[in-house]
Amino acid sequence: MRCWVPSTLRRARDSPPYLFCPSCRLPLGMRAPCGLKTSMNPDSETLLVATFNPGKLREIQAYLASLPLQVAGLQSLSDVRPSPEDGDTFEQNARQKATYYSRFFPGSTLADDSGLAVDALDGEPGTYSARYVSPSASDEQRCRQILKRLENVATPGRTARFFCCLALARQGYVIQVFTGAIEGEITYELRGANGFGYDPIFLVPRLNRTLGELSAAEKLDISHRGQALRKMGEYLRQESG
Ligand code: IMP
Repeated sequence: MRCWVPSTLRRARDSPPYLFCPSCRLPLGMRAPCGLKTSMNPDSETLLVATFNPGKLREIQAYLASLPLQVAGLQSLSDVRPSPEDGDTFEQNARQKATYYSRFFPGSTLADDSGLAVDALDGEPGTYSARYVSPSASDEQRCRQILKRLENVATPGRTARFFCCLALARQGYVIQVFTGAIEGEITYELRGANGFGYDPIFLVPRLNRTLGELSAAEKLDISHRGQALRKMGEYLRQESG
């Protein structure tokens, strides 16, 4: 049976020649008995966007629509458990997720780790942004908890920033990381219904609007994720040219 790992990936620097199933150790191209397989077209350059967060996925897909790539989501991988995520920094987590998922996927894998750091809360929620309050809390509950903890903090003390680290990996190896950050202030109430996560409490002072009040395109233009995605796009363009 012909292995469907694209030849470009077989030549990837410092990489083993084929992908092996981490559970049964057989080459994935041979449709391992553990049932692991993907639905990818073997002859195309496909990027796996490795996130379960629908907000991130929307923003990343909107940007990737401008690149000559096929895009796949995590649903393309069957029987793969979620990646561990126990790093101390955004970069460690992004690298961990990208490395993990790229072992199951023949194309390139992109992982995003991002979050909000509030100065008056000593950088919290930081890498715990997605689990802040409790893993099952809603975005609104998390926003309200930040506002509550800042009840006695007045504006110039309400500064904060979003960080984003994107890691691009192939066959279990990180190829490159791209970062972005945006500075802002925490509002006194939720404003705007766009975006996701902490967008409604993150004010961009020069626009006097929160990220939740911006359109998807306006946010991508200035956001931490938009910055990191543009760096990645530039890298991919150079790599393919
Ligand atoms: P991660 O999946 O561990 O990277 O968690 C990221 C979390 O940070 C998300 O669940 C959001 O709560 C928050 N976050 C990251 N990026 C954004 C953004 O662009 N807007 C609002 N919240 C964000």
